[in-house]
Amino acid sequence: MIGAAPWWVRPGLEIERGRLTIAGHDAEGLAREHGTPLFVYDLTRFAENARRMQAALAGAGLPFRLRFAMKANPMPEVLGVFRGLGTPGSARSVGIDACSPGEVERAIECGWRPDEVSFTGTNVSERDLDVLLGRGVHVNLDAISQIQRYGRRAPGRAIGVRVDPGAGAGYNDHLHYSGDRPTKFGIGPERLDDAIAAARRHDLTIDTAHFHAGSGWLADGLPGFEAALTGAVEAVHRLRAAGCPIAEVNVGGGLGAPARADERGIDLDAYAATLARHLGGLDVVVACEPGDYLSKDAAILLGEVVTVERRRTVTFVGLDIGWNLNCAYFIYRFAQELVVCRAADAPRTETVTVAGHINEAGDVFAEGYAIPPVAEGDMVALLNAGGYLQAMSSTHCLRPTGSAVFLER
Ligand SMILES: Cc1ncc(COP(=O)(O)O)c(C=O)c1O
Repeated sequence: MIGAAPWWVRPGLEIERGRLTIAGHDAEGLAREHGTPLFVYDLTRFAENARRMQAALAGAGLPFRLRFAMKANPMPEVLGVFRGLGTPGSARSVGIDACSPGEVERAIECGWRPDEVSFTGTNVSERDLDVLLGRGVHVNLDAISQIQRYGRRAPGRAIGVRVDPGAGAGYNDHLHYSGDRPTKFGIGPERLDDAIAAARRHDLTIDTAHFHAGSGWLADGLPGFEAALTGAVEAVHRLRAAGCPIAEVNVGGGLGAPARADERGIDLDAYAATLARHLGGLDVVVACEPGDYLSKDAAILLGEVVTVERRRTVTFVGLDIGWNLNCAYFIYRFAQELVVCRAADAPRTETVTVAGHINEAGDVFAEGYAIPPVAEGDMVALLNAGGYLQAMSSTHCLRPTGSAVFLER
């Protein structure tokens, strides 16, 4: 009997005669040809993820704008895929969510018009404003002091406000960006009138309400997201009652990608239906700005097994990759799946801790984790490497930031 394929198999990430392939290329062959650590991008996947999301939003009958949160992956090769998806302003096109002047400049260099770029940053400085105002992109501000700062510099413009909706959703508690306790983001209901007054003082028009509930949430995070959406809709009603012509509700990003067999991804139709239920009657454009959902599963990170060693009760599998390249567990506590390139569907009979080559005890990628038997010299792939890994890489310990190959199907 042929066993079921592992949960992660999809077009472009497959198993041929037991060996892992990405975009039709043998993964181990790529690792040996280019050296490790190596990011391998399946560019077609970025486009597929965007089209799937657009289809769900269109299916719910919502006027929408999809923007890619560039912070997830600012590589020009990746941005080129999103830029190529539709003529500027068309429903099939994908805009950019930027959070720094550098991202705004990168978007413009890569062919986006300023009116396709939405900026939502935090703790924005005068130097940041030099670029944002110079480029003329729409800005969502997340503090009253920021509204005042912006208004002093550019009275009469249109702005958005990032609200704290009082509820959140995330892969874990650390990744909730709003909820019971204050976070560094957003204007809560108790200060909304002050925000409106600050905008008025500077003749600023508030035309957008923005929120971001948190990051990495999966199917079971939808109720938390819906609670945040409810809080945001209350803010929209208050803003409108105060005369603000809210034309866009920006629901942020946050949709996660499953990383293990027991994690359930988001049902996009249920997500879109939730948006339609709360926003459908408001006569607004719904803007979504996911990073991870569009990018995370579009790359793998290849590395070599350099150590297999038992220490007391634990078997450590050491890789030539560090958290400087793969911070998914170190920073976010995201689960990660590791696949042995030459034995991609072999039974997972060993329990190990997978660790990196940075001199910090926390430089591990998985603990108590089941994998097939491996030996030093084996090539392995860490999945879900397309978002927030290469973008966040550093040369800590003077380890290189990893090279990349970009494949198309
Ligand atoms: C304002 C805003 N929008 C979008 C995103 C993208 O989030 P994700 O990659 O989880 O979809 C973030 C992430 O922090 C954010 O802060």
